[in-house]
Amino acid sequence: MSGDENPMTAGALFPRDFQRRYPLAARGEGCWLFTDEGKKVLDAAGSAAVVSIGHGIARIGQAMAEQAGKLAFVHSSEFHTRVAEELAERLLALAPPNFQRGGRVLLTSGGSEATETALKLCRQYFVERGEERRVKIVSRRQSYHGATLGALSVSGNVARREPFLPLLSEWGHIAPCYCYRCPFGLRYPQCNLGCADELESFLENDDAETVTGFIFEPISGATLGAVVPPEGYAARIAEICRRHGLLLVADETMTGVGRTGKPFAVDHWGVEPDMIVVGKGVASGYAPLGAVLVSSRVAETIAHGSGRFVHGFTYSGHPVAAAAGLAVLDYIHENQLFARVPDAGLELGHALEALRDEFPIIGDVRGLGLLWGIEFVRDRESRSPSDPRLKVADLVFQAAYEAGVLTYPIHGCADGKAGDHLLLAPPFIISSAEIEVLVAGLRTAVEHAARILSSSGGVQ
Ligand SMILES: Cc1ncc(COP(=O)(O)O)c(C=O)c1O
Repeated sequence: MSGDENPMTAGALFPRDFQRRYPLAARGEGCWLFTDEGKKVLDAAGSAAVVSIGHGIARIGQAMAEQAGKLAFVHSSEFHTRVAEELAERLLALAPPNFQRGGRVLLTSGGSEATETALKLCRQYFVERGEERRVKIVSRRQSYHGATLGALSVSGNVARREPFLPLLSEWGHIAPCYCYRCPFGLRYPQCNLGCADELESFLENDDAETVTGFIFEPISGATLGAVVPPEGYAARIAEICRRHGLLLVADETMTGVGRTGKPFAVDHWGVEPDMIVVGKGVASGYAPLGAVLVSSRVAETIAHGSGRFVHGFTYSGHPVAAAAGLAVLDYIHENQLFARVPDAGLELGHALEALRDEFPIIGDVRGLGLLWGIEFVRDRESRSPSDPRLKVADLVFQAAYEAGVLTYPIHGCADGKAGDHLLLAPPFIISSAEIEVLVAGLRTAVEHAARILSSSGGVQ
């Protein structure tokens, strides 16, 4: 943005932030976005951990157009379609063993709808079993499960919840698993996974028989920035859920469908949740699409109980969105894109670690596959975050954008208010040359931010 332009958003669209002027995106191709003004930007964020196969792949649009020409819409209370059936089958085939033979898929228009669906399924599962006292869904602080009120209730993202607190239900949040800033001040493995055991103490203190389930992001997405739990965490959580009869819901809206180098993040630890929430990468942004993968046990309890899930959206199983999802899965399969993620991820991770070594304002670099977080600090030794008013993540984001690299800035990782990080989640097709461009742009941006912070006294 040049200095003489009005920074306020103009136009008729209700913007996310009236204080900002949003560039107009005109075109996408591979890992690149082009604005109306002709600026070319490397989509290092996958927009928001959405774009997996890359922008502008014509055959996805063709598959959608073909479906729209044949049949754009039917209502799921009246018809199923082959295209939605096929997508459901293909998603189940990617899922862990407990989803095979009897698992089902509910299609939605995004992650928040999928979370809502999972929360309601948790409740209805226990109603079917005559366990009416089970109502609550426990989750973690510093988490995000979606923008709708149920999803926001189980979320722990302080800033996104704050204005709406009076509207939210409170069923209990436990500590996140965040070793860089351990909520208990401990270190792995001496901690003995105390953060997972907090679920156990919560259930002991809070009458486990009023709880339906536990929802978590197996690898923390936006709120903490690609925090990977240590070995044993996910398995311990799953074991506690099993022992107390809770359903385990893995929210893989960000991590699912290959982003971390396996079909689902839970696959890294062999954990079998009762439901998997997906969104974002499932259609790589070509259509608004999400899904809940429902394990055989949960689907069969409803099927052989009342036989009817009291829930549905008008656009569940939308044929054109399903065609997009199916075409994306085909494209991933034909181009073996899941197999690209681990190596590309390691290459990106090594480059980011080298960047961390150059700049004391980078406190931590973490991630798995092609989901990475860079956390900024005021002081690397104490890990103390910068004053939130300095908006360090925005500063780096803006400078990186000027340098031609799109990142995803987030605030509040340290304590809900303070703490700055960037999320990086490029398309799976990112090349070594593009990783170099990404890191060069980031280097320019971090240098710029470090200079501003040191002159403002933000860095000691
Ligand atoms: C883990 C997680 N769950 C749910 C959501 C909500 O998805 P959507 O924005 O598609 O409604 C998000 C979005 O960022 C997410 O990261």
